[in-house]
Amino acid sequence: MALGRLCALYGVLAVLVPLIVADTPANCTYADMLGTWMFSMSQGGNDRTLDCTDPGPVTNNITVQFSHFSTATLMSSKGYTYDVNGYWTLIYNQGFEFRVLNRKFFAFFKWKGEGENATSMCNEIMPGWSHDVLGRDWACFQGMRIKPQQKPQQHPPAVSRSEAKERRLHQNFKTNLDFIEQINSAQSSWQAGVYPEYEKFTRNDLIRRAGGRKSRLPHRPRPAPVSEETRLAAAQLPESFDWRKVMGLNFVSPIRDQGQCGSCYAFASMGMLEARLRVLTNNTQQFVLSPQEIVSCGKYSQGCEGGFPYLIAGKYAEDFGVVLEECYPYEGKDSSCKDTSRCGRGYATNYRYVGGFYGGCNEELMQLELVKNGPMAVAFEVYSDFMHYKGGVYEHTGLSDPFNPFEITNHAVLLVGYGRDPETGAKFWTVKNSWGEKWGEEGFFRIRRGTDECAIESIAVAADPIPLMS
Ligand SMILES: *[C@@H]1O[C@H](CO)[C@@H](O)[C@H](O)[C@H]1NC(C)=O
Ligand SMILES: *[C@@H]1O[C@H](CO)[C@@H](O)[C@H](O)[C@H]1NC(C)=O
Ligand SMILES: *[C@@H]1O[C@H](CO)[C@@H](O)[C@H](O)[C@H]1NC(C)=O
Ligand SMILES: *[C@@H]1O[C@H](CO)[C@@H](O)[C@H](O)[C@H]1NC(C)=O
Repeated sequence: MALGRLCALYGVLAVLVPLIVADTPANCTYADMLGTWMFSMSQGGNDRTLDCTDPGPVTNNITVQFSHFSTATLMSSKGYTYDVNGYWTLIYNQGFEFRVLNRKFFAFFKWKGEGENATSMCNEIMPGWSHDVLGRDWACFQGMRIKPQQKPQQHPPAVSRSEAKERRLHQNFKTNLDFIEQINSAQSSWQAGVYPEYEKFTRNDLIRRAGGRKSRLPHRPRPAPVSEETRLAAAQLPESFDWRKVMGLNFVSPIRDQGQCGSCYAFASMGMLEARLRVLTNNTQQFVLSPQEIVSCGKYSQGCEGGFPYLIAGKYAEDFGVVLEECYPYEGKDSSCKDTSRCGRGYATNYRYVGGFYGGCNEELMQLELVKNGPMAVAFEVYSDFMHYKGGVYEHTGLSDPFNPFEITNHAVLLVGYGRDPETGAKFWTVKNSWGEKWGEEGFFRIRRGTDECAIESIAVAADPIPLMS
């Protein structure tokens, strides 16, 4: 992908070329998806090594209608009947996946231009990948919306930043003690402190560590209403729960450090698969999986520029599998994909947004998923005050640091538990970060639960790893 290659030069050219740290520049919405699309399929019968950058001649067109909440209906297709039982979900603001006739289809939305000047074309897609639900018979496809459900939306290009701000973002972070003091006197739920190591990073590096510029989702969904059934089930759950101490056993793999690469999504994804393998095998399969293989080889993400757990812990782990850390050690930077044929691969299946589709999530469903199946990938909005978190139950103070410009990001992490503060009664989530063991509460943090604090209850992702039998 052109963007990925350009970004590999980021370190060298950072000062000269103000590249945007982001996922893909696509910025599309749920409403953009609704309506009727036509997809043009290319030759099938391929395996997963298929390269869809050049999809080849069209062999078949299909017409699919996407409607609320996640229903995909196959309207017509050469030689097929209809399928009214299809499913679709938006994938953040980046793309979508749908399933009809027991085939899965995934594509990113189309965009034009680079960096600040990129515009999304939300009624078209980049060439996508399709295969049957068993992962066979791969084909490429292209597509466009032929009939919107409502008037098409305008997608203005992102507003450019001033050169002055751009320059400041490329300078090293400087600790601002006044800001830390302000945070600590504004509230008593959590404590802020100094991280001397931040001064080794540029402000941009820190933003990238927290998910990357432009990773914030403008149209993120709100938590879904809680059904009566869910409420009753959740009422049966323990008052507090923590996968680090379930009957004295720890099912959470060790804390890691992503460095300055925007690979949080790969760490959250591998962390989920690692923990769930431990849960499924009563700690007999304690693997550490490779985020670098995702960064360097992943077709469904953008290396150090970002990506999303739904596509990694889920779709990539199902379609391509993941490898062990020892077979593909972490480098913390974009690099070309090495031969992995000597590495064994492990797989996951049944990936899903908690609640069934993008926008179906809420606190109770997350608790139920957590206790039943294990830790899960979540994302939340990082503000500059969070960077100074040392301990306690985080909630955003509304304060920002005037001396260190920051952009609100969307950061992927791993949910491992929940509880209630014995003194204040405040409900919290316990979350594993990927900023090293010295950060926060030994690499973890707690954040307010039940109020969608920083959007943490809106987009949880789960997947089920497949343990080895031998
Ligand atoms: C698919 O649709 C396109 C655009 O309408 C048309 O040009 C093409 O002939 C169709 N191909 C097949 C194989 O139906
Ligand atoms: C964006 O477009 C403007 C005006 O066309 C141009 O001056 C600027 O260099 C472009 N920026 C990038 C990052 O390509
Ligand atoms: C995405 O589009 C919305 C308007 O539709 C805009 O408010 C937002 O700033 C855009 N985000 C990015 C990252 O370009
Ligand atoms: C799980 O592992 C623990 C610790 O090794 C052991 O005490 C326990 O009996 C195991 N549980 C099962 C169901 O095998």
